[in-house]
Amino acid sequence: MDIDPFSDAKILDAWHRNAAPWTTAVRGQQIESRRLVTDRALIEATLSSSPRSLLDIGCGEGWLARALAASDIDVIGIDAVPALIELARQAGGGEFRVMTYEEVAAGKLNASVDAVVCNFALLGNESVAGLFGAVRSLLNPHGSLLVQTLHPLAACGDQPYQDGWRAGSWAGFNADFGDPAPWYFRTLESWIGLFAEHGFQLRELREPLHPQTHQPASVIFIAQAAD
Ligand SMILES: C[S@@+](CC[C@H](N)C(=O)[O-])C[C@H]1O[C@@H](n2cnc3c(N)ncnc32)[C@H](O)[C@@H]1O
Repeated sequence: MDIDPFSDAKILDAWHRNAAPWTTAVRGQQIESRRLVTDRALIEATLSSSPRSLLDIGCGEGWLARALAASDIDVIGIDAVPALIELARQAGGGEFRVMTYEEVAAGKLNASVDAVVCNFALLGNESVAGLFGAVRSLLNPHGSLLVQTLHPLAACGDQPYQDGWRAGSWAGFNADFGDPAPWYFRTLESWIGLFAEHGFQLRELREPLHPQTHQPASVIFIAQAAD
């Protein structure tokens, strides 16, 4: 059966296909916005709550665990793509497991951490809502949920500013990439609503700026379980 081109299943299909070029791009520092802004912004946001343990959801090839290695934080990374998890394990810095958001939502991850981090990894619709439903149970009391994602105003382009599936693109990436993953656009209001609907209180919202264009390179949400 063909996979719906605008679906959570298609996102995973595309990431299975692009594990190798993605790893080369991340490890070779080929993505300018990451190199100049968003990696550091996420690390600073993460360290601001001094976590001792961290769950990196949709960890990819595992760069965050390695970047935090000097900070003495126990990192668990999960991702659906076995090739990425294998590469993460080889590079070290944490404990890495193959697991989908759907499995996390179904309660299959047994963890209790000070911080849950999702870096450009919340790309879908139902899979993201399901995941949010499980995150509270993975956090220690006073633990933080950090999400870095495309800034909705910067990523909207000419399309209507409303939630919905968008076609993916590897524009700016090299020819080794193929079959881009679709993604589910959420307005800023919808992102904020997602936290509230799942029992989180937004503590901080950061808008890291690109140093040359002075446009937002991303948005980072830092939330805690509401009382
Ligand atoms: C843009 S990459 C980001 C990877 C990593 N967080 C980073 O900063 O380099 C998105 C990641 O989300 C993972 N992902 C997307 N949907 C997923 C799902 N439903 N279950 C598990 N992983 C998923 C993909 O496999 C991919 O590794």
